[in-house]
Amino acid sequence: MDERYAIILAAGKGTRMKSKLYKVLHPVCGKPMVEHIMSRVEEINPNKVVTIVGHGAQEVKAQLDTRSEYALQAEQLGTGHAVIQAADFLKGKKGTTLVISGDTPLLTSETLDQLFEYHQGKNASATILTAHADDPSGYGRILCDRVGIVDRIVEQKDASIEEAQVKEINTGTYCFDNELLFEALDNITTDNVQGEYYLTDIIEILKEQGHIVAAYQTSDFEESIGVNDRIALAQANDIMRRRINRKHMQNGVTFIDPNTSYIDDGVKIGAETIIEPGVSLKGETIIGEDCVITQNSQITDSRIEDGVTVKSSTIEESIVYAKADVGPYAHLRPKTEVKQQAHIGNFVEIKNATIGEKTKVGHLTYVGDATLGKEINVGCGTVFVNYDGKNKHHTTVGDHSFIGSAVNLIGPVNIAQNTCLAAGSTITDDVYEDDMAIARARQVNKEGYAKRLPFLQ
Ligand code: UD1
Ligand code: CA
Repeated sequence: MDERYAIILAAGKGTRMKSKLYKVLHPVCGKPMVEHIMSRVEEINPNKVVTIVGHGAQEVKAQLDTRSEYALQAEQLGTGHAVIQAADFLKGKKGTTLVISGDTPLLTSETLDQLFEYHQGKNASATILTAHADDPSGYGRILCDRVGIVDRIVEQKDASIEEAQVKEINTGTYCFDNELLFEALDNITTDNVQGEYYLTDIIEILKEQGHIVAAYQTSDFEESIGVNDRIALAQANDIMRRRINRKHMQNGVTFIDPNTSYIDDGVKIGAETIIEPGVSLKGETIIGEDCVITQNSQITDSRIEDGVTVKSSTIEESIVYAKADVGPYAHLRPKTEVKQQAHIGNFVEIKNATIGEKTKVGHLTYVGDATLGKEINVGCGTVFVNYDGKNKHHTTVGDHSFIGSAVNLIGPVNIAQNTCLAAGSTITDDVYEDDMAIARARQVNKEGYAKRLPFLQ
């Protein structure tokens, strides 16, 4: 196989997005568009990847890091001008170069493989990846000669009324003979409505020089959507979401309504798991087998093991071990570990804490900066008081302890195993094994006093 190179165009500002975030960094199903492109490019095993950066150069470089080399396009004078910036890395090298836009996140590596194959089969100097669009507006149109061979590409803004009728569009992805590409780029001009150096002009130049130019049409227009504004961004998210959910369903995951379940690219879900409507699974989340994730749960960068039920809860950067259950309406904040078969109930918030095996934290409780052993019962309305206004303090509770309702544990404090904390206690001192602690004022009953209260007369 000959050498393969790739050039990713990612220097534009994306004016039509009307955004502070640079266009190619806008996420589609949880990953920046340029990240999707980079992954597809890597799947075709190029010998070298050059990304053209300009607007947001630092941010784009931080995203792709060492996976690409970078050429700076200081001024954005058009897509042709952008490719010229890669000359220092690629000019004069033998091989085939894929040029791809940073704003077409739905392209698949299968399509790129087919493009390469077609390009080689035709022995072409350039092959354009095209698609049939029912509504071609906004895209460059593919103009063919009388025998159906590509002549040139005309941009929408430069097209005559007749040319604008053409429904075969340029996806912005191409294979080029690398040497001819950089030679032909010397000949492009800004003689067009936008006053830009168009990469698309290369086609006409190569053809005039007597080289073969070809077009490979994908069967799926959706794949080639270029995201120029927020409307296309929503469409791209929608299309990718359907693709992702379909793949999970093929793998044995049940979706009650796949149209309203939002699963990021890269999330893993085990077979027999049920995903209810309104669920969002984000980032690096992994869900095991036989789980049930009910309505409106939001799980980010977390690991949920087999047989777990999460009811309408929010979980961030946490681990929930097998057969535990969480919710409804619980919030597991970063660094929470819920061990096997533990139960986290209604309106419970947990942060930086480990909840041991079979321990129950059932109702209206805050656990912050704590380590709880196994088979503990935490009563309703208990607060692990972890913050003194300046520092956070850690609390430990040993196995088989019983914490009554409405207990405050003022950290740092150590509660040994097999202890009991009486309901309503404010615990400030350590409690030792087999002891019970009670820390509340004694009740006083005042005889007949209620009758003297004016508001009870
Ligand atoms: C381009 C094509 C059009 C095609 C469409 C497909 C040209 C002239 N037009 O139009 O035929 O149908 O893509 O989506 O190529 N960029 C730079 N530097 C620049 C200009 C652009 O790096 O100076 C990058 C942008 O960041 C973007 C990509 O090139 O990732 C495409 O630019 P964009 O302005 O979106 O081109 P379109 O108008 O969509
Ligand atoms: Ca575009």
